[in-house]
Amino acid sequence: MSTTAHAHPNIALIKYWGKSGQAGNIPATPSLSITLAGLATSTTVSEAAADEFLLNGEPAEDAKVHQCLTRLRDQFGLPPVRVSSRNDFPTAAGLASSASGFAALMTALNTEFDLGLDAGARSVLARQASASAARSIFGGFATLEGPEWQARPLFEPLHWPLQVVVAVTDTASKSISSTTGMQRSALSPYFPGWVRSTHDDFVAACAAVAERDFEVLAELAEHSCLKMHGLMLSTRPSLLYWNPTTLACMETIRRLRTDGAEVFFTVDAGPQVKAVCLPGHRHAVHRALEQVPGVTRLIDAELGPGAWVDPP
Ligand code: PMV
Repeated sequence: MSTTAHAHPNIALIKYWGKSGQAGNIPATPSLSITLAGLATSTTVSEAAADEFLLNGEPAEDAKVHQCLTRLRDQFGLPPVRVSSRNDFPTAAGLASSASGFAALMTALNTEFDLGLDAGARSVLARQASASAARSIFGGFATLEGPEWQARPLFEPLHWPLQVVVAVTDTASKSISSTTGMQRSALSPYFPGWVRSTHDDFVAACAAVAERDFEVLAELAEHSCLKMHGLMLSTRPSLLYWNPTTLACMETIRRLRTDGAEVFFTVDAGPQVKAVCLPGHRHAVHRALEQVPGVTRLIDAELGPGAWVDPP
């Protein structure tokens, strides 16, 4: 017996960066994300003689996977498990592979071992491993906010079918993990301002999504992204996740917007650039990013569903 579950990564338009310090991996900031079809993690789980983890077909060590299984063992008496996870996109390079990974893992374990968890409970358990994973349990637009810190679906993809063009500028794994980056960021003099102001950004961005106000969302999302990278730059030692191509893509997207295209960028803890646009502008965005020297691959994505299991 085995179960395979799938989950799409999500990208935050209002970013989570930094932890509250409370137990359970509680974020310091609320976040708003979109779940992307077009990229996926598929994870198969089955009972085994001992815990075993394979990533893209190769045996792998992952402390967070180990901790996640241990937590579930303590809570639900989970037996030893074989976990085999595959990403159809670069792993650990700022494309949210941990988000889709833990959402798929929690969903597969829930079905295979009859844990009886609804989406909200799976979201909480996924959050404990990787907070952004809580959001990939849901499709479309999702939020993660206190006091429960359980992700919630804000709107289905059809509410506002935004499109995303991901410009891959480097496929190497990131050098500084988001956990380390967040620990460093908490010591920055900018950190209190980041936490305080993100709450207002979050409320305003949720309203912009409800009203489908692209201009307002574009301004807020780029502001949240650049403010997070400003915080990263202010750490000691400084965190810089961009390369020259990242910056060239951001400039290209800003130029497209000045010329009338409805598009904005966001960048996470890696050098890839995600251009979020209205459907009518996708071709122009794709064509412009294709011409940026250093872009190695473009991935077109639509908004997608939350995590799901293969039928038996
Ligand atoms: O959940 P983590 O540890 O992969 O951190 C995610 C952090 C960002 O991707 C930069 C922002 C976010 O909200 O997804």
